[in-house]
Amino acid sequence: MRSCKLYANVCIFLNVKCLKRILLNATIGGKEVLSMNFDQRTVTCGQLRGADAGKTVVLNGWVHRDRNHGALHFINLRDRYGITQVVVDDDASPELQKVASELRMEYCIAVTGIVRLRPDNMINHDMPTGEIEVKAQKISILSKCATLPFMIDSENAANEDLRLKYRFLDLRSSGMQDRIRLRHEFIKAIREYLYTEGFYEIETPTLIRSTPEGARDFLVPSRKYPGKFYALPQSPQLYKQLLMVGGFDKYFQIARCYRDEDARGDRQLEFTQLDVEMSFVKRDDVLSLMERLFGHVFKEVMNYELPAHFRRIDYYDAMNTYGCDKPDLRFGCEIKDVSDLVQKSTFEAYKTILANKGYVKAICAPKTEGFDFTRKYLDEIAATAKVYGAQFVPFLKVGANNALSGSAAKFFVGMESEVCSFMGAKEGDVILMVAHENWKKCCASAGAVRSKLGKDLGIIRPGFEFCWIVDFPLFEYNEEEGHWEAAHHMFSMPQAKYIDTLEQNPGEVRGDLYDMVVNGYECASGSIRIHDVDLQKRIFRICNFSDEEGEKKFGFLLNAFKFGPPPHGGIAPGIDRMVMIMSEQSSIKEVIAFPKNSFAVSPMDDCPNDVDQKQLDELHLIIKKDEEK
Ligand code: AMO
Repeated sequence: MRSCKLYANVCIFLNVKCLKRILLNATIGGKEVLSMNFDQRTVTCGQLRGADAGKTVVLNGWVHRDRNHGALHFINLRDRYGITQVVVDDDASPELQKVASELRMEYCIAVTGIVRLRPDNMINHDMPTGEIEVKAQKISILSKCATLPFMIDSENAANEDLRLKYRFLDLRSSGMQDRIRLRHEFIKAIREYLYTEGFYEIETPTLIRSTPEGARDFLVPSRKYPGKFYALPQSPQLYKQLLMVGGFDKYFQIARCYRDEDARGDRQLEFTQLDVEMSFVKRDDVLSLMERLFGHVFKEVMNYELPAHFRRIDYYDAMNTYGCDKPDLRFGCEIKDVSDLVQKSTFEAYKTILANKGYVKAICAPKTEGFDFTRKYLDEIAATAKVYGAQFVPFLKVGANNALSGSAAKFFVGMESEVCSFMGAKEGDVILMVAHENWKKCCASAGAVRSKLGKDLGIIRPGFEFCWIVDFPLFEYNEEEGHWEAAHHMFSMPQAKYIDTLEQNPGEVRGDLYDMVVNGYECASGSIRIHDVDLQKRIFRICNFSDEEGEKKFGFLLNAFKFGPPPHGGIAPGIDRMVMIMSEQSSIKEVIAFPKNSFAVSPMDDCPNDVDQKQLDELHLIIKKDEEK
């Protein structure tokens, strides 16, 4: 341990301000503080190169790997920036040899040493610091590490709950470090870009009144007002609209959102949105801002060139062609409506479905080297479709000269060439068919088959395919509750041509709504908003909110709309989903520092958990036992 005096002597060579700061640190509370106790790094573990040979350096980091080769001791020292090889030579002092022999994985240490070039045959071209090593002169153990629950590797093979329980260790893996860095750079590039476009970053409250926005609210009981609750925002939707009324015509926020819904691969209870709103805009202004923004960000962060404009696909075209409203455009296998062919065939079961105003769709799976449509695989396909409603998946195997075999071949005798030509099928391809009386279920069944084929045939191109899905229906019918509800949220503008007749057939109304889709994920949603009190009330009524209820729940918004609201619109890309896609992961947990598991629990801090009776009393809460429910 260095004495203050010695340290102060060193500081004489530094400027007086610095000296003052270090002396102050050294005497807080009459105790030496940590900064006086260790040799602070002069370089990081990712920094040294051949040109640094001969320099004396100090490194701080964790023992990543540690191996003895006879008298030589190699330590791979790791920090956020990389790994440097440290060597304790056989001529090291007994004191140094002793400390080196005590080292274990993940000990946190400080190493002082001299940088030297590695012999030519020892250069590690896979490591940025692979040309050099540091000959240790002094090693101090800054802290020890208990037995590790798993190895700190690039990707952690441990089960998810163990990873989450020891998330602070899991975060040390290079995979997590890379993804958290990517997330940081992504958000930084977003901020920088939006500042250049004149956007203000404005925070909105996270204790708000509970308003129906689609999912279930997380509620926060009020201590001061017994029986009353705040809610955590599902998104800053209404506040950003109120900011428009407040005159801040270009707003954004990196906003935390909270929704009490089941956590899935691309969903968490709390997540982060880039929330954006603009005044005096039309749909294309919002879309084009996003195209410029992500064009910039992908170039900046990943050196990846996006097209200047993303393809726009009408909602119904997306459903009919890809079977979903978030298509993965990195592969073909487009869905075709084969009703006409079926009508001409002898396929009676399908003809009955058509007679009942149903739909028949087909996909041509391309011949793929090394892939066989075995009986077992066709059963898997049928099971996939069944989840979405289609009862079975008849198929046609295409042979030489359009010869057809397979479970549906007997229904298309004499129509082989017509079928192949309509489907664009060639020898070796397989045509798969699905049918359902309900259009959405037919599309979804075909879409599930298409997605499975994409993955299993290995035909998905690498890279990022962005598109816009536009012109969504404004309302969806809630069968269970027997009324219409907003497909996105209730503040979205119907397209002009439907405004006069909204109530006549809500199912036909299209909204000024748009989703940004990337590689098969919905990454952003937005709309042009209503800014007219009467129109807003009509939408509430269609969604089964009486005027009184609308006033009670959204009176503040309706009130604001009486005071010269500007036309406005916006969008909210999900940060977690975007970073998940950029880092080629399939779960957003991989890009969130401290996520919850699939049971909405954080195993590390055992959250959620009980609270003291005193806290419950202060909040005027009584917990009902299960049997009382
Ligand atoms: P929406 O609810 O569609 O729209 O959300 C926008 C985007 O947020 C992301 N997202 C989620 N990410 C992780 N976990 C979740 N549970 C989750 N839910 C949503 C998705 C989604 O596309 N206020 C509107 C936006 C607007 O109209 O401006 C809204 O929140 O990437």
